[in-house]
Amino acid sequence: MIAGDGVGPEVVAEALKVLEQVARLEGIEYALHPVDIGGERYLRTGEVLPDSAVRELREQDVILLGAVGHPGVPPGVLEKGILLKLRFDFHQYVNLRPVRLFPGIEGPIRGKGPEDVDMVVVRENNEDLYVGAGGFLRKGTAEEVAIQTSINSRAGVERTLRYAFDLARRRAAEGSFRGLSSADRDRGLVRQVTMVAKTNVLTYAHDLWNRAFEEVSRDYPEIRSDYQHVDACCMRMVVAPEKFDVIVTTNMFGDIITDLGAVLQGGMGLAASGNINPEKTAPSMFEPVHGSAPDIAGKGVANPLAAMLSLAMMFDHIGHHRAGDRIRGAVRLLLAQPGPRTPDLGGSNSTAEVGAALLGFLDF
Ligand code: NAD
Ligand code: IPM
Ligand code: MN
Repeated sequence: MIAGDGVGPEVVAEALKVLEQVARLEGIEYALHPVDIGGERYLRTGEVLPDSAVRELREQDVILLGAVGHPGVPPGVLEKGILLKLRFDFHQYVNLRPVRLFPGIEGPIRGKGPEDVDMVVVRENNEDLYVGAGGFLRKGTAEEVAIQTSINSRAGVERTLRYAFDLARRRAAEGSFRGLSSADRDRGLVRQVTMVAKTNVLTYAHDLWNRAFEEVSRDYPEIRSDYQHVDACCMRMVVAPEKFDVIVTTNMFGDIITDLGAVLQGGMGLAASGNINPEKTAPSMFEPVHGSAPDIAGKGVANPLAAMLSLAMMFDHIGHHRAGDRIRGAVRLLLAQPGPRTPDLGGSNSTAEVGAALLGFLDF
């Protein structure tokens, strides 16, 4: 467990109470290993992520992370040095980000309810602009040039696409995608994968994506393959969220569209994610989509539900689906009726009050 910075420790504290109770109810034994890394440690010792911490983390089955990012530390030091390093070192090449509107949450789009917002973003998590390839020429002069290169490997793209299609297949077990036309259904299609890129401009990188997409999709004849340019995707996520089932996209675009996705599901306080190593050769890491939220940190008003829903994804990953469902079910029950809400959801309750109320719904 890495509590991290800002609201990270506040929301993780509530998620750990859920962990304890769910583990008891489901008869799951676990050992919790807190690892102290983040902005405070960096300011205290100058260490961002010592090798010893990476070794300790590698020995775990899964990692729960609050958030990193500290107003007193220059941007990128902690984000790249902790979050991205762990995502890369542990081959967490999929960033899985469900976008689901719970009943009882008023979504931001008129006329669109929970039945319209149920998609999942598969964000490539190890490549693209994130790898840190680039540099400066003539830094600090009037002729300065900055270069930051997007890396897209055929193997890296293909494994991400396959994950998305496999996920669509798994979702078919929950019923078929409502957004399919009757003609699609007649053709035997059950689910949909939308690739989101910018093939009309990024004619090298996204040409590779496009060719890989076409090839991989042939192995999944029952899945409809759809393509959207990222700009149009942003528009359509707002205008017609019901048109999306599984989205697969690049690291950078996935970062951006999942903050938009967070708003579709009621805000940053509800958006969960998992950095997944599908082969389980190293631990996967679960964290809310939101950051350290310095504007509300220390006030005890951060919404803990995103961290709890990330914990639910963690249980899914280790095969304890009932535990995951129990947490999602409790969030659903909490939100379905009037009760404690943090300010981001229009309430006036604290993080701890929402956390305590959630515990009461776990035992349903
Ligand atoms: P942010 O997600 O921290 O905050 C954006 C807005 O959402 C803020 O107004 C904040 O108050 C609100 N918000 C976030 N989490 C909330 C919660 N649980 N409950 C209620 N409201 C919540 O994004 P930012 O302000 O751009 O970034 C702050 C710092 O966090 C930066 O240092 C950034 O690099 C870092 N960051 C870290 C992660 C991560 O650790 N995974 C993710 C994003 C940003
Ligand atoms: C996220 C965050 C990170 C990202 C940052 C903090 C490196 O915004 O998890 O969405 O860009 O991936
Ligand atoms: Mn982000």
